[in-house]
Amino acid sequence: MYDFRPAPDCPKPEAYRQLVDAADALTSGEPDPVANMANVAALLWDFLPDLNWAGFYRMVEGELVLGPFMGRPACIRIPLGKGVCGVAAGDAATQLVEDVHAFPGHIACDSETNSELVVPVIRGGDVVAVIDLDSPLKARFDEEDREGIEALAALIAERI
Ligand code: SME
Repeated sequence: MYDFRPAPDCPKPEAYRQLVDAADALTSGEPDPVANMANVAALLWDFLPDLNWAGFYRMVEGELVLGPFMGRPACIRIPLGKGVCGVAAGDAATQLVEDVHAFPGHIACDSETNSELVVPVIRGGDVVAVIDLDSPLKARFDEEDREGIEALAALIAERI
């Protein structure tokens, strides 16, 4: 099988370059969006330490609907503007949340989650999905994570 994990001492920006390259290799030339989201979710799960959930919500008829992911079963439908994912999709803006318990309207799918990074995937000016990463650690995500996942979202926007 594929093993895309970066070396443990790899600086984060370089690790994200490797992640984006791996996602490119996995999804290039494959037209099926479910296959591509599934492989990217698995890649994120394999690649990034200290996660308890990694995956996609897709925009379907004006609300977010659960897509391919790794982790525990999760809430299926999220209205725009609700929770971290719904705000990211509604505002078309990345949400980097150090403490989800302090986020108004946070949807607690898993009580273990303490921090979250949600990045919208934008195609032709429209939000078509969000990438959601959850961690049991407080303040797990920083600006380097945001830049890395935003680069991933830009790469896959035409492939999901
Ligand atoms: N916590 C999210 C809901 C999705 S799950 O964490 C997988 C939110 O508030 O948007």
